[in-house]
Amino acid sequence: MDQTAFSWVNVGVIKRSKWDDHYALQARKEHRLARSVYKLEEIDKKYGLIRPQDRILDLGCYPGSWSLYCLKKVGSKGEVVGMDLKQPKGLSAPNFRFLKADILGLDIEWLLREVGPRDTIISDLAPQTTGIAVTDTARSLSLAEEAFRIALALLRKGGNFFCKIFEGEDLKTFREGVLRKFGRGRTVRPTAVRKASREVYLLGLGLKE
Ligand SMILES: C[S@@+](CC[C@H](N)C(=O)[O-])C[C@H]1O[C@@H](n2cnc3c(N)ncnc32)[C@H](O)[C@@H]1O
Repeated sequence: MDQTAFSWVNVGVIKRSKWDDHYALQARKEHRLARSVYKLEEIDKKYGLIRPQDRILDLGCYPGSWSLYCLKKVGSKGEVVGMDLKQPKGLSAPNFRFLKADILGLDIEWLLREVGPRDTIISDLAPQTTGIAVTDTARSLSLAEEAFRIALALLRKGGNFFCKIFEGEDLKTFREGVLRKFGRGRTVRPTAVRKASREVYLLGLGLKE
């Protein structure tokens, strides 16, 4: 597993780990569910990714820091659906729903019925890392491709997409395919991404059709 992914959570408290850095310490101090929330927060503040009343789909939502951030941002008239293999602990709100599912090979028709159209889709999906760069990169690409397939099916026109992917030789082609679908798009690397990490995020704003 990508070490940036598991800012170890225990019912809302991040446990100490050897991976601790400024953001992990800050997350613990501020009672955040995971340090990864700072990545989303930075991009949201800079690009206006998440809007009040948005209907959000959060792919790879465990332990829940992104979903919680979104719930605060969208307000009571918005809605967040989180999906993961693991259920976030203690994350409940009238406008939050968790779907336990493997994103790989998901039946899109089922998902459309279950979730419905979305204004914004965010994906922090990360594979179990092996330490073998080529394998980890390929697994990350598969997850990102699946997130994009879901985004094309569920996003409304004008919707936003934000998706983690590991840098690798296939990134350029995938990136071009994603970004051409949006009015504005770019690759971003939030400052909270660890220096040694190969992760970047694709940001697409304003789905064209
Ligand atoms: C980096 S963590 C997400 C952290 C989350 N954004 C947060 O801030 O709380 C990545 C998540 O992707 C999930 N994941 C990886 N492969 C998956 C798959 N095939 N289907 C569903 N979830 C998957 C993992 O279970 C893990 O919880």
